[in-house]
Amino acid sequence: MYTIDSINQLRNHLWQAKLDHKIIAFVPTMGNLHEGHLQLIDRALEEADLVVASIFVNPLQFGPGEDFNGYPRTFMGDQEKLMSRGCHVLFAPTVDEMYPTTNVSSTVVKVPHLDQLLCGASRPGHFTGVATVVSKLFGIVQPDLAIFGLKDYQQFLVIKQLTNDLCLPVKIIGAPIARAESGLALSSRNGYLSEKELRQAAQLYGCLIACRVALESGETELLKLEEQAQCQLESAGFKRDYFKICRQSDLQPANIDDNELVIIAAVYLGKARLIDNIRFTLLL
Ligand code: PAF
Repeated sequence: MYTIDSINQLRNHLWQAKLDHKIIAFVPTMGNLHEGHLQLIDRALEEADLVVASIFVNPLQFGPGEDFNGYPRTFMGDQEKLMSRGCHVLFAPTVDEMYPTTNVSSTVVKVPHLDQLLCGASRPGHFTGVATVVSKLFGIVQPDLAIFGLKDYQQFLVIKQLTNDLCLPVKIIGAPIARAESGLALSSRNGYLSEKELRQAAQLYGCLIACRVALESGETELLKLEEQAQCQLESAGFKRDYFKICRQSDLQPANIDDNELVIIAAVYLGKARLIDNIRFTLLL
């Protein structure tokens, strides 16, 4: 595996592959890789001739008071994991390489509406940071396809929309959420949790499943279900952010006659903010 930290070197490296019409898959990450990330690499290897991963902790997507400085940086271990999984190229730029000017008038990419909902409401500016860095990375790597985990379903929709709106020739693929045996969605931020909190954290997935079962059993009072889940999570020791039943297509609150649904939640536990969701078709 080649590890490259400069944009020009990466372009030179990928030039021949593009001339040879090789299919390039891209897996952007912020590092501290877990099995979920490595499954994205597996999927990329199935889809493409050449797999490029990136590790870049993007300052633009962290708000004031968030964990940018403390975000776990485990570069050597990450490099090993990518190499042993068969990734071909790792792009690991510095902040200066990605944002050479601190000029406040630098271009940003804003995905309206979607960026204001749910996580966007709790983390103002977060999705503009994500959309901007992903657009830049797409411009640098110029992949044919890019793979994102569906744990951050809102991020997945934001990236699909920006790709569509900006006519970028990149196919966006969503990969299933990787979970621990307890059901807890794997996340780089799970490392913030103590043993006890890790056991508690699994209850978030339990609440999503219970809500799905209630809907599938014919419960039609969606607001009541959301409130019940929030109360249950609070009694289990979580601090609430949101727990919503939404339409999969645009994350608007679901109506009783919608059937492509996502139950999506964010909670605080100890030092971590956890997100999770389940997507399904309601057949009644
Ligand atoms: O999901 C992430 O790890 C990040 O938001 C991403 C897509 C790599 C952009 O920094």
